[in-house]
Amino acid sequence: MQWPKVKGTILFSPRNGQQEEKALLHAARLLKEGELLAFPTETVYGLGADALDPVAVSRIFRAKGRPADNPLIVHIAGIEQASELVRELPPEAALLARYFWPGPLTMVLPKSERVPDICTAGLSSVALRVPSHPLALRLIRAAKVPIAAPSANISGSPSPTTAAHVLADLAGRIAAVLDGGACSVGLESTVVSLLSSPPAILRPGWVTQEMLEKILKCSILDLSTVDNKDDKQGPALSPGMKYRHYAPKAPLILVEGEGDDQRSQLLALTEGFVMQGRKLGLILSQESKAFFSAPVVEILGSRNDPATVARRLFNALRRMDYQGVEVIVVEGFEEKELGKAVMNRLRKAAVKIIGSESKGGVLWTKS
Ligand code: TXA
Ligand code: MG
Repeated sequence: MQWPKVKGTILFSPRNGQQEEKALLHAARLLKEGELLAFPTETVYGLGADALDPVAVSRIFRAKGRPADNPLIVHIAGIEQASELVRELPPEAALLARYFWPGPLTMVLPKSERVPDICTAGLSSVALRVPSHPLALRLIRAAKVPIAAPSANISGSPSPTTAAHVLADLAGRIAAVLDGGACSVGLESTVVSLLSSPPAILRPGWVTQEMLEKILKCSILDLSTVDNKDDKQGPALSPGMKYRHYAPKAPLILVEGEGDDQRSQLLALTEGFVMQGRKLGLILSQESKAFFSAPVVEILGSRNDPATVARRLFNALRRMDYQGVEVIVVEGFEEKELGKAVMNRLRKAAVKIIGSESKGGVLWTKS
């Protein structure tokens, strides 16, 4: 079967079961040959390589422009595949796997010799995840190897939630993309470290602290807000946390808070930029839609529906770039449960954050 190519990158876009089978066989073959393949997961698209092949893994860092000290998540098809990759599997890991795998939870565990150092950026731990997207699972089984995969974007830009996003960043740099439609979660997995007791959240995601605590019946640390950008304070807990991330090209200003206070801050900024004649992009909740206008507006969803807000966030950030806005103003959301993951991504994307009145109502510029 002839698949279309974009700048030399094959686009597998199967339309029926038979085509899926062919695409998966071809995709698995590319992985085994040491090539890079972007594939869908329920969170975001991953940029995959054979995790046990250090040369293939080194190509991921080159294609993304990813710093070598930022380790990769290794994707497996089930917990049985974990045994060769970890030194030990603590009972908490088995319990969490029973509830959340396949799904958007990544566990950091002590690594075995089998995992190449380049995959874990020299750390003695490895991050493992069983994705739930059916094509991802079938791909890992067909390849018969664990797949190392960061998000399939150029380092620093918003994570891709469609095959088109992947091609926009990586066409010509990778062998192929497997199109599995738009991702249903839309934000990267929760990363939890089981190296410490109690376990610690390193990156918030769809699986919330509350969900983890309920299953483990103990309190979990949330280290995702610990600012460890400063290398002088010792090695980063999760090296990915120290980099600016998810950022569109135009500067992004995040307005936190809620109610009238937040709305008047948004209004002042919007009017200011429009008066200056700057091409402004606004990213808002459904509830705020009627109150503002700007050359480009993206509505994420209702403030009461964080799952929809999460699913649409990265697409909205990318649309700002595609429409060439000069500055972006984003309404902040309530920081509870899944809202924590949304706000974590927005804060990392922002160059300025306007705090809520309760936090002093100040404008601060991130260093
Ligand atoms: O949903 C996801 O997790 C997606 C899909 C493709 O699975 N992947 C993803 O990968 O978001 P990436 O590379 O963009 O983010 C992985 C995060 C980084 O913050 C990295 O520092 C952290 O996981 N990480 C990986 N291995 C680690 C380890 N051994 N210890 C601590 N943090 C680790
Ligand atoms: Mg990423």
